[in-house]
Amino acid sequence: MARRARRATADPTSAKQAKWSKRGESISANQARRGNHSESNPEGPRRETRGTLGWARFRYPDALSGVSVYNLVPATGHREFLLPSQNPITVAVVGVGVFGRNHARVYKELEQQGAAVRLLGVVDPDTGRADAVAREFGCKAFGSVHQMLTTHSELQAASVAAPTVQHLNVAGELMRAGVDVLIEKPLAASLAEAEELVALAAKHKRIAQVGHLERFNPAVRATVPLLTQPMFFEVHRLSVFTPRSLDVDVVLDLMIHDLDIVLAFAKSPVKEVRAVGLPILSGKVDIANVRLELESGCIANFTASRVSTERVRKLRFFQPRQYVSLDYGRQEVLVFTVGHDAGSGTPSVNPQIGVTKPPVASEEPLHAELKSFLRAVRERSAPDVPLEDGRRSLALALEIVAAIREHGKKVDLAGIATAKD
Ligand SMILES: NC(=O)c1ccc[n+]([C@@H]2O[C@H](COP(=O)([O-])OP(=O)(O)OC[C@H]3O[C@@H](n4cnc5c(N)ncnc54)[C@H](O)[C@@H]3O)[C@@H](O)[C@H]2O)c1
Repeated sequence: MARRARRATADPTSAKQAKWSKRGESISANQARRGNHSESNPEGPRRETRGTLGWARFRYPDALSGVSVYNLVPATGHREFLLPSQNPITVAVVGVGVFGRNHARVYKELEQQGAAVRLLGVVDPDTGRADAVAREFGCKAFGSVHQMLTTHSELQAASVAAPTVQHLNVAGELMRAGVDVLIEKPLAASLAEAEELVALAAKHKRIAQVGHLERFNPAVRATVPLLTQPMFFEVHRLSVFTPRSLDVDVVLDLMIHDLDIVLAFAKSPVKEVRAVGLPILSGKVDIANVRLELESGCIANFTASRVSTERVRKLRFFQPRQYVSLDYGRQEVLVFTVGHDAGSGTPSVNPQIGVTKPPVASEEPLHAELKSFLRAVRERSAPDVPLEDGRRSLALALEIVAAIREHGKKVDLAGIATAKD
């Protein structure tokens, strides 16, 4: 069996870990108690398979009857599981950098809150990082997806939070092995890769969701029932500069969240794209302004920046007799509605305008997103945000990036012609 994980870094302050380290193994005291361990320790107490191509037997305690249900699954092949509502879904997180760590945290929180989920482990080729996150959340650490799949056939679902260029690789390997996936946004680095992911999910009959997190923002959810005929959107997503995600233009990094929301709200194909953007601090486009015209006649303006002096996350739109203002960050929605006798043609200095603040049940969007993914996995139902939506937003984002390049060349904008693709 390939064992690509390097030895984990032990915490020198822990006597128990020092003992394990002496044996060339790393395990936290907490993991030792739970029987969880780094895969650097292959003979650990919870090793469950009998070899790469062997068959493994897993026991699922049935909470209702107290009887155990056994599933026989090939260690690397297709996995189909009995999913009575009480059986925990075994999950992993692949890629535990800044955002993947959040996935691991939330799965663990859900587990601790009694949700039917079990965080099996985390995967990262940076094994020091994998070990640190595994120790933090009491699960196993793996150095590769292959290593996890060949040793743990009970894995049912995984979050993919590796860099975008790795999404196809990683999610493809998981889906081929019968694992359901939640793939972070943007879905892939190119449209061809996104389409391959969509095709793989269909071929292997996998539940596959894309991580467009703002769909699960409570303010967005509270806005959905208010939608009638949105005709004009004005969206701002501004961030202060941090040296993260600089491998992609701000359109793929930040604006894509709002492109997805507007496409979902307006339910109309895009007719025309106008865009301008500039590299400011990185070699990529750091600030962009976009005007979309949709087939429905709706106009949507977007500004995204990662070189701003303040953080803003706002989406406002007009629809007949209404103006709706949504603040993603504050998780707030304000609705201004014009009364029926106002706007009748006779100008009034005192029009009847009602202002309401729909109730928004505050929740961390990632909690809501992972719960929705787990529900789709358990019920074998269509995910709330299918890969096709990720493909659609990516296609638009790439069209915008191309329009920015085109515009830059037309006006001879310094930096654009040399901005790396
Ligand atoms: N939904 C959101 O709001 C949101 C926010 C931030 C990032 N993201 C997305 O999450 C993904 C990760 O972003 P990040 O900011 O955490 O990046 P990051 O660079 O902090 O972390 C990526 C991690 O993946 C690991 N990795 C590299 N190749 C791998 C492989 N083949 N298998 C497993 N792990 C691998 C790296 O070692 C690193 O630890 C990106 O797709 C990004 O666009 C989404």
